[in-house]
Amino acid sequence: MTNMAVTRELFDQVMVPNYAPAEMIPVRGLGARVWDQQHREYVDFAGGIAVSCLGHCHPVLVGALKEQSEKLWHVSNVLTNEPALRLASKMVEATFAEKAYFCNSGAEANEAAFKLARRYALEHFGAEKTQIIAFNQGFHGRTFFTVTVGGQAAYSDGFGPKPADIDHVDYNDIAALKAIMSDKTCAVVMEPLQGEGGIISPDLDYVKAVRELCDQHNALLIFDEVQTGVGRTGALYAYMNLGVTPDILTSAKSLGGGFPIGAMLTTSAIAASLKPGTHGSTYGGNPLACAVAEAAFDAVNTDAVLNGVKEREGWYREGLAAINAKYHCFAEVRGKGLLLGCVLNEEFKGRAKEFLNAAMAEQLMVLIAGANVVRFAPSLVISKEDITEGLARFERAVAKIVNG
Ligand SMILES: Cc1ncc(COP(=O)(O)O)c(C=O)c1O
Repeated sequence: MTNMAVTRELFDQVMVPNYAPAEMIPVRGLGARVWDQQHREYVDFAGGIAVSCLGHCHPVLVGALKEQSEKLWHVSNVLTNEPALRLASKMVEATFAEKAYFCNSGAEANEAAFKLARRYALEHFGAEKTQIIAFNQGFHGRTFFTVTVGGQAAYSDGFGPKPADIDHVDYNDIAALKAIMSDKTCAVVMEPLQGEGGIISPDLDYVKAVRELCDQHNALLIFDEVQTGVGRTGALYAYMNLGVTPDILTSAKSLGGGFPIGAMLTTSAIAASLKPGTHGSTYGGNPLACAVAEAAFDAVNTDAVLNGVKEREGWYREGLAAINAKYHCFAEVRGKGLLLGCVLNEEFKGRAKEFLNAAMAEQLMVLIAGANVVRFAPSLVISKEDITEGLARFERAVAKIVNG
């Protein structure tokens, strides 16, 4: 097996075709650089889709993983374990929350949040209070419940009957939310900055008004911080800069810095509705995942890293403005911290994937967020040199597209 030729063609032969990965196969990463099978080196502005918060193979994470790997890998939730308890304590200490639940992904964290909201409403207000309101273009994962709560029907169509009583309204439109909300609303689910939907920030007044409507109708406010959490926007969690506190918060992606883990945070009063046996996961809170996440959380939750995110945002914005001044292809650069989107203008509308492909040809990994936005979600500690080099490659990619 070890001598087997591992090529991109093999993907098409042996893998379920739900993904269409790039041609190159990465084999090694360090910081914000990645190398492929042919030893070509790439600058990574994608960060594994907002996951690799400390870059690739950060010594602190490697150390935590190695140390835990020689102690205890897995026990299931029949037992608890030290890394899980330490991580939960730190997350509770650093946020509004009083209780944590661990799982393995963002979708699972949201699945837990939605089930909890429904159960809490049932216990406190009766069987009629089941409506979940979410937002058009929102994204919450790919399990059937979470993808149905997500705001793109195309992702949940074609799999049979969907979970019921889920409604969607436009983001940033308080009148639309008000019109659809009632005492039957059990939860409002929002990303404090829509990621997959196109890097869209809410207005501060709007978020406050959403909170007020939730309070008025005894509905829980769930913030999906799977993409925005753990330093991505320059705050430990994005809610901290919005002046609004959710009732339930979900975290994943950067939480493990590349090791799969998800978390749901909430208050003791709400958490009480998930009694023993109501929900669970064999792997959730696994010692390896929690040990790595604890190290990542400690490293990110420092003034140096969080202020560094804001500084790096400035470097990106400066560099992107200079590129746009030459090539005039972006209508705006939006987002916060190191979750940034270059919105293509009318002339280049719908061509984000071409920019991604052109960047890859220049050995730069970027992301898209819909057809019109080129997205960056790099390591939170990416060096100035790597940003400068990556932006130089991005400029070459942009030039190729603009000049035909
Ligand atoms: C806001 C948000 N929620 C949930 C998810 C799903 O997370 P996962 O892919 O880990 O299930 C994502 C993934 O992109 C996301 O951006």
